[in-house]
Amino acid sequence: MAHVLKVRGFPDHFAAAIARRRFLLEEAYSLASCFGFEPVEAPIVERSELFKRAMALSAAVQKEMYCLEGGELALRPEGTAGLVRMLIEEKPPLPCRWICSGPMFRHERPQKGRFRQFHQVSAEIFGEEGGDSDAELIFFAVSFLKNIGVYDKASLQLNCIGESQERANYIQKLIQFLKPIKNRLSAESQERLLRNPLRILDSKSASDQELLQKAPLISESLGRESQGRFQSALRTLKSLGVSFQENPFLVRGLDYYNGMVFEIKAEGLGAQDAILAGGRYDSLVEDLGGRCAPALGFAAGLERLALLLPERPPPPPPHFAVAASKGRPQEEAFKNALLLRARGFRVFFKFQGSFAKQMAKAAASGALKALIFGEREIAEKKVTVKDLKTRKEEAVLWSAFEKTLPPCGPRLSKKRLSGI
Ligand code: HAM
Repeated sequence: MAHVLKVRGFPDHFAAAIARRRFLLEEAYSLASCFGFEPVEAPIVERSELFKRAMALSAAVQKEMYCLEGGELALRPEGTAGLVRMLIEEKPPLPCRWICSGPMFRHERPQKGRFRQFHQVSAEIFGEEGGDSDAELIFFAVSFLKNIGVYDKASLQLNCIGESQERANYIQKLIQFLKPIKNRLSAESQERLLRNPLRILDSKSASDQELLQKAPLISESLGRESQGRFQSALRTLKSLGVSFQENPFLVRGLDYYNGMVFEIKAEGLGAQDAILAGGRYDSLVEDLGGRCAPALGFAAGLERLALLLPERPPPPPPHFAVAASKGRPQEEAFKNALLLRARGFRVFFKFQGSFAKQMAKAAASGALKALIFGEREIAEKKVTVKDLKTRKEEAVLWSAFEKTLPPCGPRLSKKRLSGI
């Protein structure tokens, strides 16, 4: 009978991938606590309206949403809108800094590094004005990438997309520039000219990029305040030794941003090379029904970061391998092996096959010591402990052996174990 296939774009993950993700999360959360971020979690499902309101102009992201319950609910395509909803509803004291992680869902065309279910770790700051916190957030992101050993393959790009009035003025200038050459733009950019002209700036089409070379720059439409905040963030980053490239065409796909936006790309990932991205979104809290609170944040794609990590060492070998002859010895060995596992020791055993075969498997497991249970050991309440390197062995009372064990992992109390 034909088997049921996995859904396209929804990958399976094995131990190596999970170990990488755990490593990334441990590094992110431990560094985040040094920068004053607290962990929070929002649900995977929100009302679709939340994402529609947060991304009013981003038609593409809206089309990519997985909807449930006749369209009323949606699987989150990104984390920021849910956290803003949580901030408005739970009303924590401001300012606050949050870190969270989990799966996101976007109905995009799958390719290398682009999935329909993927994982992000994201950091958000609420209630802090621009300038220093912009620089601090980027410095945190860069430090995280350095700590996990991928920053030498990465480059940071920054832009300032201004406040809404500045952006509106700029969009008018951009439309005036693009209208006469409209027919030479790609089909996608022609469509964007009607719906969201700013996004034409990050068109992937080479001919669009060529045409844009003479386009007006957004920096020319920025007022003193926006310029001042952006330049102050750049100065701080320079003083912290962070190198970056200003990219006047960086506008970001989600359109809740204002002021500073940034993206970190990495070599060797192909077309999907953005590993971390974010910026300021000072009006989103108010747009979603909350009291005005400046905000900024970023998210990093864990699958893309995992592709850049150096080979991880294989899992550690077992502490003990257990071998036993058939019958009572195997029953006792099985029970003792489980008791050791419950105390936090890695214990290998495969009781199928002859005793000699079990010993061969024990040696191949990489364990340093074998614990051997035969009829004689059971009769005398003992275990033979064999050093698998030196091949020396000694029979000792099980109770005495247990006492020699170092504390390892979470230990269960004798009382709780007695029932097993
Ligand atoms: P984003 O640029 O849509 O921003 O996603 C952030 C990162 O998630 C990307 O740089 C990429 O590494 C990863 N990513 C996005 N889509 C996929 C995909 N289909 N497959 C694999 N990885 C992907 C946001 O999501 C914003 N919420 C970031 C933010 C937080 N801005 C402010 N706060």
